Amino acid sequence: MGQSPEVLISEEKIKARVQELATQISTDYADKGELVLIGVLKGAFIFLADLSRRLAIPRHIEFLAVSSYEHGSVRSGAVRLVMDVRRSIEGKHVVIVEDIVDTGHTLHYLIDMLKSRNPASVRTCALLHKEHKTEVDVDVDYLGFSIGDEWVVGSGLDYDEKDRTLPYIGWINSAD
Ligand code: IMP
Ligand code: MG
Repeated sequence: MGQSPEVLISEEKIKARVQELATQISTDYADKGELVLIGVLKGAFIFLADLSRRLAIPRHIEFLAVSSYEHGSVRSGAVRLVMDVRRSIEGKHVVIVEDIVDTGHTLHYLIDMLKSRNPASVRTCALLHKEHKTEVDVDVDYLGFSIGDEWVVGSGLDYDEKDRTLPYIGWINSAD
């Protein structure tokens, strides 16, 4: 067995930030009717679970899945929708919930695709953002933390399916 990943963002910090985001979203969408939260599988499942349980407004949970990476950090090409939501979002307020925005291609693709279905609005929420790696500009309306270029795991994020359920955000220091 290799070493545990080093802690980049602790479980306590994640919890506190998720609560802040939930409070902000609850305020922004108060009196707007049911909010549709769309989690991007697989990475967003833990963040979405934590965030949605802390909201103080009516909400409906959906998931979709995209494919953009093949093994670890090796890019497989364009973004592809591999699973769609189960309900129409027409006339609904939507928040896309992502684990991490890296180049921005995934979120850009999803915003375009979901906006074409005539929702009342589409906003974005991501636990993490690698701002220096942006290739396509996308607005992250609700952001947990900005991080550097390192590959991170935990809290839903994986490296080749490993370390997805770590309670903190960690990174593997290959110099060790
Ligand atoms: P983007 O299209 O380049 O913004 O990539 C977004 C997707 O790449 C995320 O939803 C993740 O699934 C994956 N990804 C990017 N960086 C990391 C990382 O550091 N750890 C785990 N997954 C990542
Ligand atoms: Mg993802």
